[in-house]
Amino acid sequence: MSLPGPPLPAAASTLLWMQRPLAYLDACAKRYGEPYAMPLIGFPKIAMFYTPAAVKEVFSDDGSTYAAGKFNKSLSALLGERSVLMLDGAEHMRHRKLLLPPFHGERMQRYGQAMLDATDACIEGWTPGKRFALQPDMQDVTLRVILQTIFGFALGPRLDEMRRRTKRILQLGAWPPLLLPFMQRDLGPWSPWAKFQAALKAGDEYLYDEIARRRRSGERSHDILSLLLDARDEDGQPMSDADLRDELTTLLVAGHETTATALTWAVRWTLATPGLLDRVRAEIHAARSKDGTPRLTAARAAELPLIDAIAREAMRLNPVIPIVGRVLERPVRLAGHDLPAGTPLACSIYLAQRRPDVYPNPSRFDPDRFLGKKPAPSEFFPFGGGVRRCIGMAFALYEMRIVLARLFERAELSLAPDAPIRVERRSITLVPSAGLLVRLERRLPDGVVAPPITEHAAGA
Ligand code: HEM
Repeated sequence: MSLPGPPLPAAASTLLWMQRPLAYLDACAKRYGEPYAMPLIGFPKIAMFYTPAAVKEVFSDDGSTYAAGKFNKSLSALLGERSVLMLDGAEHMRHRKLLLPPFHGERMQRYGQAMLDATDACIEGWTPGKRFALQPDMQDVTLRVILQTIFGFALGPRLDEMRRRTKRILQLGAWPPLLLPFMQRDLGPWSPWAKFQAALKAGDEYLYDEIARRRRSGERSHDILSLLLDARDEDGQPMSDADLRDELTTLLVAGHETTATALTWAVRWTLATPGLLDRVRAEIHAARSKDGTPRLTAARAAELPLIDAIAREAMRLNPVIPIVGRVLERPVRLAGHDLPAGTPLACSIYLAQRRPDVYPNPSRFDPDRFLGKKPAPSEFFPFGGGVRRCIGMAFALYEMRIVLARLFERAELSLAPDAPIRVERRSITLVPSAGLLVRLERRLPDGVVAPPITEHAAGA
């Protein structure tokens, strides 16, 4: 493949990709156009695409030409070889079909109250006047939600222990260099990889124990583990313990930090956009008056159009994951270029969602772009696309609407004025620097609508 691209040694290109991913994507797209080839240590060069026509073609494949599992291999040490993210072809479809039913839109409604409760618990923990990082708290909310809704843990010591073990795994796994194959080596008990493996083992022990306990007791509820324990594939086969471990870890890891990061970006942009919070509060107030309740119900919170548009626009401007990748199973001609079998290629979510021909004034945060409008799946794809589109998309969007509505209903937040916000990498996700420093101005009692606070936002 002789595509243009940065003439950098793989080590220098990898460093830029780890430390300045968005600036690097922008600079390469500007200089080389589509597609360009990005060198990375330990991998063949990745062909980067970002025009709607190319993205559409990649996403319309049935999985036989563009293999995502092969591209995702660097995550297998964490998620396991049997994770749906790691598989391709018929085996991928078998796992995906087993996992999809619990994530159907209408099922989400069962989880609304857990989402509201976790947000309330988080808000109660904040001290007025004090500055704090929002991202870790959002992660606490989404982790708690996932442990309740996916694993069926009730609030209590089992949930707390699993939370502790999961946080340890993610804290150690967040270091971006661990994605590189040559860093995935045990160089003694204090090496990053060995510590990460030990944390993973502790998490696995707890997971296997929970699977065994649930199989033994026959205990079933509305949680997703219950549905997976009873799921059967087309041949009537249930999921093995090893399959369940890998899929549960995948749902846990793929499902909560991503959502927490998207929430944090959405809060950031809402607080920084003059006048927006007033519109949000008016929407919440109108919804509450309709029900005559002192607080939003989950059902009502989930159907607020402006909050939904804010969630989507935040993911357009700051996609949590900047690219989705595939490896070619056979030669193809894509966007006028012949690519041989084995070529790794990526569709850049970030570049595609910042195209000025699709999104005028693309770096401006403008939720009205999404009010009553739906961009094509090749122009807006924060959850990837085609047969690999994120299984948790409906879950994540539902949770985002509920958590955001509750936050804006109950807490008057402001951005720390002296803290510049940069984009930083945590493993494969892109987060706001310092976890987004905010301050709680005040908590609002039941039934009270906050006054306009745009004077805080304007300074941010
Ligand atoms: C805002 C939150 C989230 C974002 C931005 C996100 C993003 C993504 C992306 C970009 C992919 C890759 C798609 C592709 O290759 O085309 C993906 C796949 C996946 N996501 Fe999510 N995700 C989120 C939340 C969730 C949640 C809540 C869950 C489950 C609880 C989840 C489970 C999965 C799974 C299982 C896959 C693999 C699908 C497959 O390979 O067939 N994600 N997600």
